[in-house]
Amino acid sequence: MRAAPTTMWRSPAAPVCLLVAAVLLSAVAAATAGEEYVKYKDPKKPIGERVDDLLSRMTLAEKIGQMSQIERANATSAVIEKYFVGSVLSGGGSVPSEKATAKEWQQMVAKMQKAALKTRLGIPIIYGIDAVHGHNNVHNATIFPHNVGLGATRDPKLVKRIGQSTAHEARATGIPYTFAPCVAVCRDPRWGRCYESYSEDTKLVQLMTSAMVPGLQGDAPARYPKGTPFVAGGMNVAGCAKHFVGDGGTRDGINENNTVLSFHDLMRIHMPPYDDAVIKGVASVMISYSSWNGVKMHENRFLITDILKNKLKFRGFVITDWQAVDRITTPPHKHYYHSIQETIHAGIDMVMIPYDYPEFVADLTTQVSNGSIKLDRINDAVSRILRVKFAMGLFENPLPDPRLAGELGDKEHRQIAREAVRRSLVLLKNGKHGEKPVLPLSKKADKILVAGSHAHNLGFQCGGWTVSWQGQGGNNVTAGTTILEAIKAAVDESTVIDYTEHPDKSSIAESAKEYDYAVVVVGEEPYAETEGDNLNLTIPSPGPKVIKDVCGLVKCVVVLVSGRPLVVEPYIGAMDAFVAAWLPGTEGHGVADVLFGDHGFTGKLPRTWFKSVDQLPMNFGDKHYNPLFPFGFGLTTKPSHSQS
Ligand SMILES: *[C@@H]1O[C@H](CO)[C@@H](O)[C@H](O)[C@H]1NC(C)=O
Ligand SMILES: *[C@@H]1O[C@H](CO)[C@@H](O)[C@H](O)[C@H]1NC(C)=O
Ligand SMILES: *[C@@H]1O[C@H](CO)[C@@H](O)[C@H](O)[C@H]1NC(C)=O
Ligand SMILES: *[C@@H]1O[C@H](CO)[C@@H](O)[C@H](O)[C@H]1NC(C)=O
Ligand SMILES: *[C@@H]1O[C@H](CO)[C@@H](O)[C@H](O)[C@H]1NC(C)=O
Ligand SMILES: *[C@@H]1O[C@H](CO)[C@@H](O)[C@H](O)[C@H]1NC(C)=O
Repeated sequence: MRAAPTTMWRSPAAPVCLLVAAVLLSAVAAATAGEEYVKYKDPKKPIGERVDDLLSRMTLAEKIGQMSQIERANATSAVIEKYFVGSVLSGGGSVPSEKATAKEWQQMVAKMQKAALKTRLGIPIIYGIDAVHGHNNVHNATIFPHNVGLGATRDPKLVKRIGQSTAHEARATGIPYTFAPCVAVCRDPRWGRCYESYSEDTKLVQLMTSAMVPGLQGDAPARYPKGTPFVAGGMNVAGCAKHFVGDGGTRDGINENNTVLSFHDLMRIHMPPYDDAVIKGVASVMISYSSWNGVKMHENRFLITDILKNKLKFRGFVITDWQAVDRITTPPHKHYYHSIQETIHAGIDMVMIPYDYPEFVADLTTQVSNGSIKLDRINDAVSRILRVKFAMGLFENPLPDPRLAGELGDKEHRQIAREAVRRSLVLLKNGKHGEKPVLPLSKKADKILVAGSHAHNLGFQCGGWTVSWQGQGGNNVTAGTTILEAIKAAVDESTVIDYTEHPDKSSIAESAKEYDYAVVVVGEEPYAETEGDNLNLTIPSPGPKVIKDVCGLVKCVVVLVSGRPLVVEPYIGAMDAFVAAWLPGTEGHGVADVLFGDHGFTGKLPRTWFKSVDQLPMNFGDKHYNPLFPFGFGLTTKPSHSQS
């Protein structure tokens, strides 16, 4: 129809007839369906007009519903309809059933969505989940290396493809929104979330943020207004830059603690990735549990409203972290009524409640009704949420697409993950002083030893945020390949592999001479958030003993599986080669690809490798910088096409 005026002068008769016919037809269609024209439902209208039209039709209850995000466990059809719920989430490990298939996830989301569509205005819910290293809550999804490993790749193009694959896998389960990327600048590895950070270096975090946001959401066209949320289509997801701001700068790396910094240092170190995310059209920003100079971020109106919304011109929505409104007081929930007022006033748009929605709704309703919270603030919040929902096409395509179910754990995604693993490994030592390099290893050895707790443990190599919130050990957690399995697949058929999880020194001593070399794989066990805070950063036992026992008897390569640098200085001398593998995820083949020289080592440290914890925090650029391995360090090897 919009093309009609330009063509009409050439041949007036036909288009006019068509026009009349079309008008008649649509009138008939509308009459038979008993519907009048509703502007907000018209995808041809500009998003701003659709938002204003819809907002003008909404009751206070419907508006507060949009601001409410509840847990999937609570999201029955009746609750969604009664409270006009605007968003549902899966908390870490919250799944429709154990090992649920993509189809089962889709059915769950579709049922909730149908309830939302039945409400008076039919506003679709937006379902969100933490897809932070692939679609990690979902059984048999591709698990990519955690962000620290992606920082080591220094490869934004690869990171963008990981974002695309993650979006496809989320859509495979009917989910259009992920609480990612984490754009934290982790300044202290004692922090339990340090592996969720790409780097200690702001510039590297910016580089990866600028790649991951369009990976997940798609590329905004060149003339798209900056700061406006953008999601390209049904194969993309809305993203969420988190945790605003200074989450990685807390004292001693204590999770959710106080970040003591001048305004200028906060802007210089922790703020820049948000500017990049906003410029790329990120749909939402999640606030940090932490405080800045003693004030909880969730009640910081200056940083949320004045800086993020007004100065950076962010036009998507601001979401809380889990139960974070409760947690601005000690103990949590102490003055909930007042906490709602503080946080909404600060600029929060959507509240991850997630369980006690009746109390939240009642308290917020009272405060808006009696004027303690201004309706303008509510309208701003709801407009931002609706803007994202319109921008991502949720009104036009609210339901999961059954054709996408096959994207979950797709082969091509696993190839990308494998590439990411080999690009993320950092080679820190290769041969003792004066001796020749140990890596790449020969595939044609007669007999080799593979030892340690992390050699054959898929759960350990995936880390936290894998199937469950904290992650867990074992090999039946999800589909994937352990490092041992990858080594077996890489070496010659004739090579004998002795594998022992807990090597016994005397039995190794007996056959030490028979081994061409040993691969020792040790590291941290899975953790997430506060459970990962750690002031000693030692390799958990028996890791150090395994290193000393095996490396004392056999030429050894130590592969460390960990979310961060650990104390290795006491053992590094005993090792013949040392590889930081971070938390590589399900595609163990990527480790073998570089150990055996099918590909060269190229990874560079995304973090400073300290000597001892009393140096911490110590970051690249600091005055008294005295690391074991500096930021950016990483030895390289060339692919060995002909095996010796
Ligand atoms: C920081 O951690 C200390 C020690 O656990 C605690 O006493 C304090 O309340 C925390 N501060 C904040 C702002 O969370
Ligand atoms: C929401 O679900 C949680 C977990 O199942 C439950 O403990 C809580 O009571 C539910 N909330 C409401 C308001 O029913
Ligand atoms: C609104 O109601 C609450 C709870 O009854 C009360 O504490 C508060 O003072 C009221 N505010 C105004 C502006 O009336
Ligand atoms: C595999 O996982 C199931 C739970 O899904 C657990 O009950 C079982 O013990 C696990 N088996 C092994 C060998 O770890
Ligand atoms: C998950 O993957 C494993 C290994 O590929 C496979 O055996 C299993 O059937 C898959 N499970 C589901 C529910 O698809
Ligand atoms: C190091 O800290 C962690 C986390 O607090 C603790 O579990 C572990 O036992 C500590 N290790 C040593 C050797 O003190």
